[in-house]
Amino acid sequence: MEQSRGKQTRPAEGLKRPPMDQFLVQELNQLLANEYLLFTRTLNFHWNVVGPRFHSIHLFLEGQYKELLEMTDDVAERIRYLGSHPVSTLKEMREEGSLAEDPGSFPSTTNMLAELCDGHQEINGQIQEILDKDSVFKADRGTEDLLIQLQRKHQKMIWMLKSHLATETENSHEPSRHN
Ligand SMILES: [Fe+2]
Repeated sequence: MEQSRGKQTRPAEGLKRPPMDQFLVQELNQLLANEYLLFTRTLNFHWNVVGPRFHSIHLFLEGQYKELLEMTDDVAERIRYLGSHPVSTLKEMREEGSLAEDPGSFPSTTNMLAELCDGHQEINGQIQEILDKDSVFKADRGTEDLLIQLQRKHQKMIWMLKSHLATETENSHEPSRHN
């Protein structure tokens, strides 16, 4: 008499899943895939950076990829809370994500930082597109809050990357001492 339950799509036991969550789960899985791809890109550049700024950039990127892994984990665990399953294999990450990869390419340090900045910008826009569908979040402020926190973290990382890319003269607003 309970056999019909087995035909439902893989809900986690004990968790209710309102219909609206289906939309969010799909969006969150696409976001998760991009977070993972950006984590991988950052780890790649941590390994392959060379040049006079090697030490500082190597350490800087280590902090960034660790933070991205935590952010990826947060999205995956939210999908579990919503009663579904996150994309969990490299094949699924490539299929669901939109961030481009360029195997065998080892850009200059400046281009590495610029490519990472582009990735953060793309995800920042992707999160904004989800948040703009605000009627979805009336019943799920928890997911909305998670997305806003993620967006703020990406924006901070964009600022840090842009600061590495800026020249010192862009920041010199000191009044002349000769006046
Ligand atoms: Fe390392």
